[in-house]
Amino acid sequence: MAAPQVVAGESLVSKVTSGNALILCGIIGGLYLLDFLLTPRLDPSEPPLLKPSIPLIGHIIGIIWHQNDYHRIVHQKHPIPIASLQMLWGKIYTVWDPQLAQNSLKTRNLSFGPFVVEFAQKSFGLSAETFAKITDNKDLVPNFNEANHAGMQPKPLHAMNATAFNYISRTLDKVSPGDEGGVAVPNLYLWIRDVITFAAAHSLLGKENPWENNPSLVEDMWTFESNLPHLLTKPFPAITVRKGYLARNRLQAALGKYYTAEHDINDPTVAQLTRGRAKVLRGYGFSGFEVAQAEIMLPVAAMTNSVPVMYWLICNVFAKPALVDRIREEVLPLLEKGSDPDPDVVMVNISRLEKECPLLISCYREILRLLNQNVSMRRVLVDTTINDGKGNSYLLKKGVDVQIASGIMHRMQGVWGDDVLEFKPEHFLPPTGKSAGQAEKEKAKRNAYIPFGGGQHLCPGRNFAFAEIIALCSALVVGFDLPPVGMGFEQMKAQPAILANAVAKPVNDGEGLGIKLKRRKGWEAAKWRFKN
Ligand code: HEM
Ligand SMILES: *[C@@H]1O[C@H](CO)[C@@H](O)[C@H](O)[C@H]1NC(C)=O
Ligand SMILES: *[C@@H]1O[C@H](CO)[C@@H](O)[C@H](O)[C@H]1NC(C)=O
Ligand SMILES: *[C@@H]1O[C@H](CO)[C@@H](O)[C@H](O)[C@H]1NC(C)=O
Ligand SMILES: *[C@@H]1O[C@H](CO)[C@@H](O)[C@H](O)[C@H]1NC(C)=O
Repeated sequence: MAAPQVVAGESLVSKVTSGNALILCGIIGGLYLLDFLLTPRLDPSEPPLLKPSIPLIGHIIGIIWHQNDYHRIVHQKHPIPIASLQMLWGKIYTVWDPQLAQNSLKTRNLSFGPFVVEFAQKSFGLSAETFAKITDNKDLVPNFNEANHAGMQPKPLHAMNATAFNYISRTLDKVSPGDEGGVAVPNLYLWIRDVITFAAAHSLLGKENPWENNPSLVEDMWTFESNLPHLLTKPFPAITVRKGYLARNRLQAALGKYYTAEHDINDPTVAQLTRGRAKVLRGYGFSGFEVAQAEIMLPVAAMTNSVPVMYWLICNVFAKPALVDRIREEVLPLLEKGSDPDPDVVMVNISRLEKECPLLISCYREILRLLNQNVSMRRVLVDTTINDGKGNSYLLKKGVDVQIASGIMHRMQGVWGDDVLEFKPEHFLPPTGKSAGQAEKEKAKRNAYIPFGGGQHLCPGRNFAFAEIIALCSALVVGFDLPPVGMGFEQMKAQPAILANAVAKPVNDGEGLGIKLKRRKGWEAAKWRFKN
């Protein structure tokens, strides 16, 4: 079978003014000539080649222009299982079939490691000397991965859950029982951002975490996070990405003090995950400040996606009062009162909610289905053949990059049914009855659902995220009313997909949607506490 060639991609010509048309024609003519000379020759068993509509660079422009959404645009035109996209004279593979995606994530022959190394220098602004410590030590990245896994074993994870729980309890305790009008929260998104930022900072870095005494680092954290793609791609970031650059400097300075004081080693309230990762870096001769430079990424990973997931869960659930009632019915019988000497304590066992509140859990998973648009990136380390379980297999050649866009699989009508763009609270309820093909359908859904990536790089924070999000959400549903202020919950729009985020954020940092946080009747004095 010869690899078929098809033209794909958005035409950008219409977006360019006519004054530049002549120059453009010249450039495009030149590109066609180059294209003729440079089109990659594929092995017949490689994925079929999709040539861009603008020769050589069309897909590159498409990805820069449309970011994570580009995969969807190309797939819509070419609903095939897997493709090779030509990029200049090279190519990347893009995987769209769920089974092929699962197999690509699972095999160790495809790795995320090379990207970590390539991104590190520019994302963290490392000196050549520090960067050399990463590139010279081939086992640094594998050991670092190991620390990620070890830090998320049940015991250390339990300690992290508990710290985050305390923070959420403290936040809810502040809503005064006597305050009939409720606490005004002018921007729901920023409120959640603060709660989760402090909770995660405390869980990961312990009581000495720099955020505790310097709340302005919250803003810095999110400024850095949103500028990460620019820091990575723009020349002279100190000038061109000034705000992000300065925010990064302040965060690294604050974390630098933290790691130089060796709190990661000496403070027992620090998470195993944080300690283990820093220990690996210290083992390769990183100074406290150098550890801080790289570990700026840990709080980013822990906060970037949990915050929008929490936010969209609340917006979508509280937009439907009848749904809030149904979830409340589910949660109510599981609350434990009177188990604590303090009669006002209401204890929530998160593990029980996981098992016994199918609708709440279904809503959580549905938000992850709908809002996740992560593109997992892998590099092929050795020639590898992946198959789709239906008799087709594809050769992936060493050195080529592979992209797997969760958003496409999460919205396949063949798997999820119609209305894939809608929030359907019942989507993940366990199937009732055994209709024909039920098992097949469930398996197809499991295959096509990858909100946390997969394989070796499966998100190590997924259970932690679950615990903090379900904790806050369950307490709000039972103990509070949150009438929206400014606009309805359902009116908030998500930002277009951008490259460094797995989960879409609300436009304009959620400006315009606030709430009143009011205690519900009968729960005025409740002290919300959580356990696993
Ligand atoms: C709902 C919230 C979250 C979502 C949707 C999410 C999603 C993801 C995804 C898609 C990946 C990449 C996997 C891949 O490339 O295949 C990832 C990696 C990662 N996540 Fe999360 N994550 C969340 C919360 C967290 C939290 C709370 C933490 C830390 C406590 C965390 C720490 C990490 C780390 C360290 C990695 C890198 C793993 C590696 O490269 O081996 N994440 N996450
Ligand atoms: C932390 O919470 C999550 C969600 O309940 C749970 O899956 C995980 O096991 C918890 N950690 C421990 C050890 O309790
Ligand atoms: C929470 O509930 C689970 C059962 O789902 C139980 O095994 C566990 O012991 C409970 N946790 C605590 C701390 O009581
Ligand atoms: C992974 O690479 C090894 C060679 O290092 C090869 O034997 C194996 O077949 C590859 N795995 C797949 C799924 O192709
Ligand atoms: C996918 O998610 C991971 C974890 O949040 C992130 O590091 C990575 O940049 C995301 N990929 C893209 C292309 O959005």
